[in-house]
Amino acid sequence: MKLFDVYPLLPLSIEKAMGSRLWDDKGEEYLDFYGGHAVISIGHSHSAYVQAIKSQLEKIGFYSNAVINPLQEKLAEKLGKLSGYGDYSLFLVNSGAEANENAFKTASFLSGKKKFISFRNSFHGRTSASVAATDDPSIIAPVNVSENFVFCPFNDIETFETLFYRNKEDLAGVITEGIQGIGGIHIPSKDFIKRIEQLCRELGVFFICDEIQSGYGRTGKFFAHQYFEVRPDIITVAKGMGNGFPIGGVLFSSHIEARKKMLGTTFGGNHLACSAALAVLEVMERENLIVRSYEKGQYLLDSLTKFRKIKEIRGRGLMIALDFDFSASGVSRLLREKYKILVDSAKNSHTIRLLPPLGITEEEIDYFLISLSHILGERSPFAE
Ligand SMILES: Cc1ncc(COP(=O)(O)O)c(C=O)c1O
Repeated sequence: MKLFDVYPLLPLSIEKAMGSRLWDDKGEEYLDFYGGHAVISIGHSHSAYVQAIKSQLEKIGFYSNAVINPLQEKLAEKLGKLSGYGDYSLFLVNSGAEANENAFKTASFLSGKKKFISFRNSFHGRTSASVAATDDPSIIAPVNVSENFVFCPFNDIETFETLFYRNKEDLAGVITEGIQGIGGIHIPSKDFIKRIEQLCRELGVFFICDEIQSGYGRTGKFFAHQYFEVRPDIITVAKGMGNGFPIGGVLFSSHIEARKKMLGTTFGGNHLACSAALAVLEVMERENLIVRSYEKGQYLLDSLTKFRKIKEIRGRGLMIALDFDFSASGVSRLLREKYKILVDSAKNSHTIRLLPPLGITEEEIDYFLISLSHILGERSPFAE
């Protein structure tokens, strides 16, 4: 059997990883400013994480949600404490798309309504309602086309108000990313996201925040929306939550009541996944990774402002986009081929995304900055 050929692959096979470094099958070392798509939070192969998964596997790897799983409770408790959402409740799943599906489903079940407002440039996953909420017609199959999702330009308060009132009779929820990821790291204005919260509160519509990419400390706060002082009714997480182990979650505000059998999953919240997610939170806390992400991100953002050939820089913490006046693919290729650094692309071909592990060091950042300055023909960012 051959593989179903859906991925445009880099000519690279990774065999080993540690911290922010990767090694390919030829023993060549790479610096990871991509994090396997913003997934690697505490760093590759962190010893505490490896140990936690190993020792859990020796006890029990999986049992279904038909029995009590104390690891789920421990995880919910720790996540609540670190995120500042101790009064919320947690439903565990396996991926980001699945987290969003369950967020939509709950909002729809409880409101008895079926419409959602989503935003231009958004990405919420590739399944059913998640892909219907995603602003990318190229990945929406005819079976996923839905009139239940209304798209509004991002950061456009006036249009949002119009669409909100026009659809209010049928509106179950509004979904936004904490900071838009694949769309190119677009940050909501505080006024915009506060207006979403306000209108949702006023009319009893669920405010859903997708923190799948922007959560788990990546932006220098546990959740990106915490920069804007809002409290969504429903928050979805995945990616950094398991540092590569597949796990996702939905956080529900205390006013949202669970009903037996309303949601469910076979694999979600299994013992092994919970042990991985618990190890991630313990390492994040012990190594102060949220503060480090903020500081390292600030250092990176400040240094990048010295580059004249970067048209625009956007970001918070270690979730950064660089826009060029030209296609960014040549820059990414040179970074990879000549300087052995991996970076991410975005929806716009002129954009590069930087999403390194949260523990990336200043030396590693400096190596990236010097390499980029060589490629762009800029003065070294460290020259006086
Ligand atoms: C903001 C956001 N939401 C949802 C998803 C979907 O997550 P998954 O690929 O785990 O289904 C992604 C994935 O890139 C994402 O960036």
